[in-house]
Amino acid sequence: MKKKKSSQAKGPKLLKSMIRHLEQQGRLGEEKNYIQHGTTTVFAHSVRVASLSLKLAKKLHLRVNRKSLLRGALLHDYFLYDWHEKDRSHRLHGLYHAGTALKNAKKDFHLNKLEENIIARHMFPLNPIFPRYKEAWIVCLADKYCAAEETIRPFLSAGKNLKCGLLSTMKRAGRKKIS
Ligand SMILES: [Fe+2]
Ligand SMILES: [Fe+2]
Repeated sequence: MKKKKSSQAKGPKLLKSMIRHLEQQGRLGEEKNYIQHGTTTVFAHSVRVASLSLKLAKKLHLRVNRKSLLRGALLHDYFLYDWHEKDRSHRLHGLYHAGTALKNAKKDFHLNKLEENIIARHMFPLNPIFPRYKEAWIVCLADKYCAAEETIRPFLSAGKNLKCGLLSTMKRAGRKKIS
């Protein structure tokens, strides 16, 4: 029982120390300045993808290189620019940003083959080359899920606010009628 508890604490702890290291040794913190999807920054998106990747590996009982899984996931969108800004170099961002992220990450860190593949192949199938390792497949899937959720979330909360607004207006109108 005790054993299980300590192994559960390992993942988030490892993620935290990895984030700190990549912020101190490189430019991961710069990602806080750029929006990725909806209102989510590239930094928050990358942390979510890393966290979900770890959970997926655990859920599927896959033996993975957790350190590389997290490093690859945290650096998968290390392109370091605001892709919403109109600029010629941001054209076809979807197609080219994995390559830019890999180039930047290699400039700042020593990456192994696994980490390189996670970053380079995370845009499969838009970039039509299959991920080579199970860790790269996991990050690719986690990225799709997080991207969809982050894109939809602002619309869902806008819908919820609209519903609440309408309900309180109707309540107020109902009260006026009665009095
Ligand atoms: Fe990406
Ligand atoms: Fe991403």
